[in-house]
Amino acid sequence: MTDLTCHFLGQPLANPLMNASGVHCRTHAELDTLATSAAAAMVTKSCTLEPRTGNPEPRYRSLPLGSINSMGLPNEGYRYYLDYADRFDHEQKLLFLSISGLTLDDNVEMIAAIREAVNPALLEVNLSCPNVPGKPQTGYDFEAMDELLDEVNDAYKRPFGVKLPPYFDISHFDAAAEVLNRYPRLAFVTCINSVGNGLVIDPETESVVIKPKDGFGGLGGSYVLPTALANVNAFYRRCPDKQIIGCGGVQSGTEAFLHLLAGASLVQIGTALYEEGPAVFDRVLGELAAIMASKGYATIDEFRGKLKML
Ligand code: FUM
Repeated sequence: MTDLTCHFLGQPLANPLMNASGVHCRTHAELDTLATSAAAAMVTKSCTLEPRTGNPEPRYRSLPLGSINSMGLPNEGYRYYLDYADRFDHEQKLLFLSISGLTLDDNVEMIAAIREAVNPALLEVNLSCPNVPGKPQTGYDFEAMDELLDEVNDAYKRPFGVKLPPYFDISHFDAAAEVLNRYPRLAFVTCINSVGNGLVIDPETESVVIKPKDGFGGLGGSYVLPTALANVNAFYRRCPDKQIIGCGGVQSGTEAFLHLLAGASLVQIGTALYEEGPAVFDRVLGELAAIMASKGYATIDEFRGKLKML
């Protein structure tokens, strides 16, 4: 029998799958659909202080190997998601509340309200949205990241996590991990957000394929799998006291298995969830179980983080 159970921050979960923030999680109706899916955890759309309509359409395009998007943080405002968390059945699934304030003060204000809530949702601070014009990603400015984490750490006395952008240089893995490791209550790290500011051009029309930011947008899906695995493994090695949530390029049980092997404790599905809907979780779980059985693994702990070197 293959056992897909796992633990996250001490909490037992039926399996390691969840949605990637941004997909199927903007409205209460979408969240309710996730709540009845096979995923064991779920995260709300990264929210801002006030509701936002986001960037002009078209702002998402499916591509042969994934997707490009520049949504621009369309969301209903943090109170809407906090209200959902207050009414959520937390026995049923682990819920993450993702915030992405447009300023440091916005983040501090949202956290001040969230810390008064009695619900046990886990706070994720998104440091990596690449799609708000004029707002650089905090995760690429280590000083600003440290300043923000210091504020969060002061304001919020429960375990919390961050969503990081992809890094591409060993020195940046080291520098980011050094900042993260200053904060013991920072208990989890989600790697990666989309690979920001790609440009997809249609050769027929000689045009960009999304409207915002002159066509520049975040890449997801198979395009980003090796970058996602590198970031998961880099932070798994550098942040031994934190749990890693892997995100990027998961479309079947194989990529979920690879994220776990690289050290992820939970695995998010974004582009494939967008394309296929919540039934994707049943399919990927079945495929993951089959891979484990074929390799003789009865539990995830037998291989999680045990990536082999040559
Ligand atoms: O554009 C967006 O709403 C994306 C958000 C994110 O990648 O964090």
